Amino acid sequence: MPTNTTSAYSDFHLQFIAGEWQTGKDDSTNTNTNPYNGDTLVEIQQATKDQLNEAYDAATQAQEAWAKQTPAERSAVLYKVVNILDQRQEEIVDWLIKESGSTRIKAMVEFGATRAITLEAATFPNRVHGEIRPSNTPGKENFIYREPIGVVAVISPWNFPLHLTQRSIAPALALGNAVVLKPASDTPVTGGLLLAKVFEEAGLPKGLLNVVVGSGSEIGDAIVEHKAPSLVSFTGSTSVGKHIGELANGGEYIKQVALELGGNSPFVVLKDADIEQAVKAAAFGKFLHQGQICIAINRVIVEDEIYDDFVERFLAHVKTLNVGDPNKQDTAVGPIINEKQVKSLKEKIAKAQEEGAKMILSGEIEGQVVPPHIFTEVTREMDLSRNEVFGPLVGIIRAKDEDDALSIANDSMYGLSSAVFTADMQKGLRFARGIRAGMTHINDISVNDESNTPFGGEKNSGIGRFNGEWVLEEFTRTHWISMQNEPREYPF
Ligand code: TAP
Repeated sequence: MPTNTTSAYSDFHLQFIAGEWQTGKDDSTNTNTNPYNGDTLVEIQQATKDQLNEAYDAATQAQEAWAKQTPAERSAVLYKVVNILDQRQEEIVDWLIKESGSTRIKAMVEFGATRAITLEAATFPNRVHGEIRPSNTPGKENFIYREPIGVVAVISPWNFPLHLTQRSIAPALALGNAVVLKPASDTPVTGGLLLAKVFEEAGLPKGLLNVVVGSGSEIGDAIVEHKAPSLVSFTGSTSVGKHIGELANGGEYIKQVALELGGNSPFVVLKDADIEQAVKAAAFGKFLHQGQICIAINRVIVEDEIYDDFVERFLAHVKTLNVGDPNKQDTAVGPIINEKQVKSLKEKIAKAQEEGAKMILSGEIEGQVVPPHIFTEVTREMDLSRNEVFGPLVGIIRAKDEDDALSIANDSMYGLSSAVFTADMQKGLRFARGIRAGMTHINDISVNDESNTPFGGEKNSGIGRFNGEWVLEEFTRTHWISMQNEPREYPF
């Protein structure tokens, strides 16, 4: 394991604009707290719209020269970032635990995913390629160029702040773009300022990455509506995503959007499944990061014949999970990000009971730590099934048979991730192909993200794909250039 031999980063109370660390000029302050013990981590004076404009000006200016750098030069910066991440792994994991309430296990998962996408992005400068296409016009040649898109606006969430931010900014920068990033207000450090320090240390030229800390409701619209960005890469809730989509396509300047939004992942256990394995998977895929993951298991759907057996074993297993201090090595379930989310979970617990679900596991909510809650006899109409929970509450739905299980799985306005457990791989593949979602995992959890496979959803889960050549296309623009090599005959 690499050890940290460099001194820890500091000055997280400043904005990173035009390559300089500067004080926010807004009257309001972001008080960044540890969701487990309430400690204040840092106070950040928020950015004004003028500072946002300054960030966009710097990005626009810096981008042109960056796009002209050789692929090798751009790759080198990304490889340097990977080295710095490795050297600072402990410092970064520590920040993930104290700022986002990540358990140690989750922080390590997130660190690994962040490192992997950075390494993948380092290969992008040399993987961009154009095409030559035949022409039906005599004497013409068609060239298709793939160019940087320009300035990319990135708005990221608090749940996997480091990874979900880096998943946008590393490919964007590698492909010759500049970035203006607004991290979530709950995670300004791991969602932005810390990465700015890493890129700065790696020698990224000034102005290419700007981190503007401010509240989404205050400066969010201005980020999207500004003339400079040609693409807005947003990861967050479906409601804010819809608003951003409207702004990006209904304002003065039309721009592309990549929207990674909410989910309602079904986890289906068919009657021939290895129940013990399905139980362990369900627990990990549901309770990792307290269930605050867009691809977390949201609905457990079990075939009638094995329902009671599954429930009994799942309950027994979940009861063994350690709940509490995220910094402890063996804690499985840590704190919820903020009080507002805790309140919404309390409401969901009350509503599930009102609607007739049977609560077979609960526990006292202490501070922001919500222990696992399990509900059985949940139906597809109940709130627990219809809406994204984003917390450690799980409903288990009984399916009559395989067809019924598929019908329940598809009965959602979301289509992000999904999973099915069965001993029969052909059946698993048939079932998986029947699910309307961007991702389905056979005999595994819905929580999977690999830097070389397409990540994204459909329906209300968003548009666009991350990772591999899919993000490479998303963060570049296509330019058809034709060359008429001999005089063409025109009809008039
Ligand atoms: P949101 O409230 O949507 O916040 C996401 C980001 O949008 C934050 O940076 C937020 O800033 C900003 N924002 C809020 N209002 C805005 C506006 N009017 N204009 C522009 N930006 C605005 O979501 P959240 O609470 O952080 O995360 C929970 C939700 O995100 C869940 O539904 C979850 O499924 C989804 N999510 C999806 C994914 C993927 S990959 N699909 C990943 C993670 C989370 P402030 O923090 O300053 O309000």
